[in-house]
Amino acid sequence: MPRDLMLAIESTCDETAAAIVRLEGGTVSVLSSVVSSQVELHAKYGGVVPNLAAREHVAHIIPVIEETLARAQITKDTIDAIAVTQGPGLIPALLIGVSAAKMLAAIWKKPLLGIHHIEGHIYANFIGKPLDPIHAFPLLALVVSGGHTQLLLMKDHFTYEILGETRDDAAGEAFDKVARILGLPYPGGPAIAKRAENHTRNTDKLPSYVLPRPMIDSPDFDFSFSGLKTAVLYLSKATPDLQKNESFIDAVSHEFQEAVVDVLLAKTGKAIEAYAPKTVIIAGGVSANVRLRERMDSLIADQFPHTRFIMPEFQYSLDNAAMIGSAALFRYAGMTEKGRENSKKSALSIHPDANLAL
Ligand code: KG4
Ligand code: ZN
Repeated sequence: MPRDLMLAIESTCDETAAAIVRLEGGTVSVLSSVVSSQVELHAKYGGVVPNLAAREHVAHIIPVIEETLARAQITKDTIDAIAVTQGPGLIPALLIGVSAAKMLAAIWKKPLLGIHHIEGHIYANFIGKPLDPIHAFPLLALVVSGGHTQLLLMKDHFTYEILGETRDDAAGEAFDKVARILGLPYPGGPAIAKRAENHTRNTDKLPSYVLPRPMIDSPDFDFSFSGLKTAVLYLSKATPDLQKNESFIDAVSHEFQEAVVDVLLAKTGKAIEAYAPKTVIIAGGVSANVRLRERMDSLIADQFPHTRFIMPEFQYSLDNAAMIGSAALFRYAGMTEKGRENSKKSALSIHPDANLAL
């Protein structure tokens, strides 16, 4: 049975990551996955500063690659190919990962595959779970990250039809902006989720607020989150001493999270009705949100019992290189010998692309 071993590198935003992944019998397994996060550094600025991110990637990329090879206990000779995130993302950040990958591919004479970051988030769902195309496709993907909010229909590997997307802010971006309004740290998603849970525990004692569910009934699969953020801003302006008002922050965090999840569920449900996919997955950093995971699981179990729901393991929800390797392994498996040879020769022509299309 063929087994392919891939070294994957990811440096889209504020994590420097490398992983060794293997495809065997249709299942991806992770031999090692190393993520060096810069979150604490950027938290001081309330968001990612591109040039600081690049400086950190430069400092960490080689140790992270060495560490992943050491943990997997393999040498370069057993690696079949190298994968790297080509975009979309911050160019100064992407450049570091892409340059490292090109250098290694050229020196070690390995094929190099440029991977789309969102494709990586999608294929994170298939780490450790067999992906049999006959049972998996058509597949509906709800992509919710810091930069993207989309509903995608996949009829086969690597074919993406965009059914709908956000018209303004991405879901993760809305979490980050609302956190900033409420005086919570960056990244906003985990901070808001934690405060929302406080509210759930004390719900009988606390005030509650009502926020809009933008576009929940619109006759399409699009989203809009910027009005929701503005509604939080108005509520906050009307609240004296906001930063000290813990119960206000808990209650608004709770209501905001419910509003986002309500809209994501409504649109996903509508797309399941319209396209009858065999599988539904969630992908991107917001897929780490426990409330979204639980409510999506219940929605599909209750209303669409014949649809399989898959979510990524927590550690592969946020940016990591194992997910990039997972997508690359399926691409590599579909390549001819000639295609693999060509991707050795064309390694140096891979360039980062801030707006890479799927
Ligand atoms: O996929 P990701 O790590 O980076 C991008 O590709 O953008 O996603 C980061 C986003 C951030 O906006 C962050 O606030 C959000 O994912 N996020 C969450 C949670 N954890 C991370 N949002 C909601 N709940 C979470 N638990
Ligand atoms: Zn991401």
